[in-house]
Amino acid sequence: MAHPTPGTAQMPAAAADLLALGRDYCLPVYRPRAMVLERGRGARVWDSTGREYIDFSAGIAVCSLGHADPDLVAALVDQAGRLWHTSNVFQSEPPLRLAQELVEASRFASRVSLCNSGAEANEAAIKLVRKWAAAQGRAPERRVVLSFRGSFHGRTLATVAATAQPKYQAGYEPLPGGFRYVGFNDVAALEAAMAGGDVAAVMLEPVQGEGGVLPAAPGFLQAVRALCDRHGALLVLDEIQSGMGRTGELFAHWHDGVVPDIVTLAKALGGGFPVGAMLVGPAAADAMQFGDHGTTFGGNPLAAAVARVALRKLASPAIAANVARQEAALRAGLAAIDEAPGLFSGVRGRGLMLGAVLRPAFAGRAGEILDLAAAEGLLLLQAGPDVLRMVPPLNIGDEDVAEGLVRLRRALRAFAR
Ligand SMILES: Cc1ncc(COP(=O)(O)O)c(C=O)c1O
Repeated sequence: MAHPTPGTAQMPAAAADLLALGRDYCLPVYRPRAMVLERGRGARVWDSTGREYIDFSAGIAVCSLGHADPDLVAALVDQAGRLWHTSNVFQSEPPLRLAQELVEASRFASRVSLCNSGAEANEAAIKLVRKWAAAQGRAPERRVVLSFRGSFHGRTLATVAATAQPKYQAGYEPLPGGFRYVGFNDVAALEAAMAGGDVAAVMLEPVQGEGGVLPAAPGFLQAVRALCDRHGALLVLDEIQSGMGRTGELFAHWHDGVVPDIVTLAKALGGGFPVGAMLVGPAAADAMQFGDHGTTFGGNPLAAAVARVALRKLASPAIAANVARQEAALRAGLAAIDEAPGLFSGVRGRGLMLGAVLRPAFAGRAGEILDLAAAEGLLLLQAGPDVLRMVPPLNIGDEDVAEGLVRLRRALRAFAR
């Protein structure tokens, strides 16, 4: 039986019908906004009724070159006419070249394993840590992977176990064992948690994304690296959201000058085409050998062809310069539009990974502001219930940032009313 979807009263029948399909046939694990997006160009998208939106969400920090980037489209179309898929039993040029280019760009890695998503990249990293520790003769109970409260590492069982947030774990027990959690940015707690010598790896996001757009405190990554060195543990950096230029460097950990052992990537790596990667440095690059891991689709020629172009473009100085320019514009604009008495207690994050934190009086209400923003023609994200998250394309122009802020001001005024 058809139920009306909230917000569809003014919609043409075709759009309402599409929304009804989602409601009636898809697993209800999302609460998407009442619109159906149809096409995009740059930092703008249009829905099936022809309404235009400025996109400060970029498909959750994925479309970092905007929508329909002509170079990505050309790479995809060209590869589509040649060879779609080989599996990894046979080889093709795009993933081989991408692996080399990722190693060269990374400044630390010696080998790469390609996959299809962020969760898969982190799952591979957790498996590799275990193999590495096993090869050293460490008993299973001495192969602990330590992660931080508020983290997000994915939705597979192992990555959900690494994700130290109860809301993602509840009901999925029994979770895989061998994980331990510590407060983010708490060096003393980390030191205590590693003192027993049973930690095989510390895994963290240089900027926690889903957990609230929370950067590692100055010096924290260096402290983690030092503790990993002291206790013989690997440093795994999840750069799935913070990487690929998002914070103004190709990798967020470059700001901190640390050398990791493993870095995981996905999201912007394919600019919207699904692809992930695990980059492994010399300490652990030989841990997995023939037969130890595998995937049918990982490193698919279509994904790799697109990712090669995305990597080249996102690593360019022009992107880094634009990230700095638009971060400044967004921070100044957010301060200007947050009219007294003010909804935000502050803006945090790095580069074009920014979070406007709601004051305690408005805690839990980020979703309402997202609805109002969408109604004004602006796509925003939240990072938990108290933070508005802005992760626009990294090549977004001045005009789109300015217009996005105008629309956000209207949404904030409506919310304040
Ligand atoms: C830091 C981080 N790690 C892992 C993931 C999981 O990636 P995916 O959704 O591609 O599995 C995400 C997704 O939001 C993420 O932000």
